[in-house]
Amino acid sequence: MAQERQRVLVARRLFPEISERLAEYFEVDAHQLTEPLSAEELAERLQGCAGALITGTERIDAALLAACPQLRAVCSMAVGFNNIDVPACTARRVLATNAPGVLTETTADFGFALMMATARRMAESEHWLRAGHWKQWSYDLFAGSDVHGATLGILGMGRIGQAIAKRGALGFDMKVAYHNRSRLSQADEAAVGARYLSLHDLLRQADHLVIVVPYTPQTHHLIGANELALMKPTATLTNIARGGVVDDAALAAALRERRIAAAGLDVFEGEPTVHPGLLTVPNVVLTPHIASASLPTRRAMAELAASNLIAALTGGQPPTPLNPEAVA
Ligand code: GLV
Repeated sequence: MAQERQRVLVARRLFPEISERLAEYFEVDAHQLTEPLSAEELAERLQGCAGALITGTERIDAALLAACPQLRAVCSMAVGFNNIDVPACTARRVLATNAPGVLTETTADFGFALMMATARRMAESEHWLRAGHWKQWSYDLFAGSDVHGATLGILGMGRIGQAIAKRGALGFDMKVAYHNRSRLSQADEAAVGARYLSLHDLLRQADHLVIVVPYTPQTHHLIGANELALMKPTATLTNIARGGVVDDAALAAALRERRIAAAGLDVFEGEPTVHPGLLTVPNVVLTPHIASASLPTRRAMAELAASNLIAALTGGQPPTPLNPEAVA
């Protein structure tokens, strides 16, 4: 009798080619709706599945793993993996993978663009123009701050932070400073043209702060009222990391009271809900978590997740495991 094929779930609506590729190996159940599965629906759809291709929004925790004992691999197309309890996966011998590398340049492009849009007040001025307010020239009409030659502060110096540093140092003649849990080697600092500062010095010196740290219990509200108070009143803050790294209520208050000049936010605490205080201040550019969203990059992310899933369930070497020890 032919061996029964393993079942996998594609938990979000994705490129059809991804399911077609997976179907060469597995029985595929692909979620078709844009609306995500609830935690209960996810657990239900995973019954009998050996693997899941997920994104940054499906929560893979101990309770879900306990409810889905056949699960062997959880492969995310996101680079951030705060939605996956990796130790709980390891304890149940479930391989978890993420998707580093393939989105670095696209995400750095977006972070830089969001920082520039924030500094040069592009969203605020566009809304004003659409509302029909443009009647004449004025010397200070939406005058913002310069990006070229300014001090770029990067909080989190992984792949994406380094790619943003290069854009600033090489393309815009910026003075680049950074803070990171661990300091780069001298050679790496020289390669990206960045100097290391303590967090407080970075906050004090940056004209434009760009946040790219992973979200962990240690980085929860890393930037709150006290940290914002250290920043220059002319400074901007851009967050493309995760909601929760910044205390959104404290940020909304700082923007309202002009204690910092402006913010650019692609990620939010509790997204897709956005703190009402951020929706009502003019000096913030808001985007719906799209930093990696170019079509070629989203395709590459999904392909990498599929490669991980295929390798994990067919005895191959998954390219980007988070817990290789789970299956050692
Ligand atoms: C997006 O936020 C990702 O982590 O890939």
